[in-house]
Amino acid sequence: MKKIQIGSQEAQVGEVDELCGALADEVEALIQSRAEAGKFAVLGLATGSTPLPLYAELIRRHREEGLSFANVISFNLDEYEGLGRDHERSYWCEMWENLFDHVDVDPENVSVPPSLSDDPDRAATEYEAAIQAAGGIDWQLLGIGGEGHIGFNEKGSALDSRTRRVTLARKTIIDAAPSFGGEENVPTHAITMGVASILEAKRIVLMARGASKKEIVHLAISGEVGPDVPASFLQNHKNVGWFLDGDAAGS
Ligand code: GLP
Repeated sequence: MKKIQIGSQEAQVGEVDELCGALADEVEALIQSRAEAGKFAVLGLATGSTPLPLYAELIRRHREEGLSFANVISFNLDEYEGLGRDHERSYWCEMWENLFDHVDVDPENVSVPPSLSDDPDRAATEYEAAIQAAGGIDWQLLGIGGEGHIGFNEKGSALDSRTRRVTLARKTIIDAAPSFGGEENVPTHAITMGVASILEAKRIVLMARGASKKEIVHLAISGEVGPDVPASFLQNHKNVGWFLDGDAAGS
């Protein structure tokens, strides 16, 4: 893995297994230091294809090296509106399938934004309160959407936005269509943690893979900071890490 400078930011560039190794090291160190202190590690987790090899590495460390998730509390970034926990395309199912089912996390300690509430505002406020009650997020993992969204904070999302109900952008729906068997099956709304909620994490890592992300990654890292590319707000976080494969970095 090598460090490269992009604008004012330093990015880590390497093969996917190197990126995942480095990120898994961060998670492991956090979990262990908290365990030694008799405390919980609070993880902010993401869905999408990008983090899958990282989750596979965490599962491997659990199985082969005894890494325990018994002192982990996790909060996911977002969820499609209307998809219950039994819907196979829900982020709830995705997280269980790709991580939680394979480690020793206490099911009571994992949260995904509520997708079926008849009062989304209240549910969103409760989600924020639960994060605060856990002591805030220690380590937040992010992917990046095709137009620079983080979670489901689409273009136009404000710096002070909190967990809320959002309308999905056309590009997001098109990107999700293959896994839903067509655009018409993709939910039009979601619940997402806000930009402000994300920026409160003590450490944030954004991971991006593939040439299709190259342009938006560069805009996020070195473009103007603002709601046009919500990921650009991360530039002003004091402990952010950009983890890119060679294709996303364009190197
Ligand atoms: C979805 C998720 C985002 C994720 C993005 C990118 O829109 N809500 O959290 O970062 O997809 O997905 P992928 O990693 O598959 O490119």
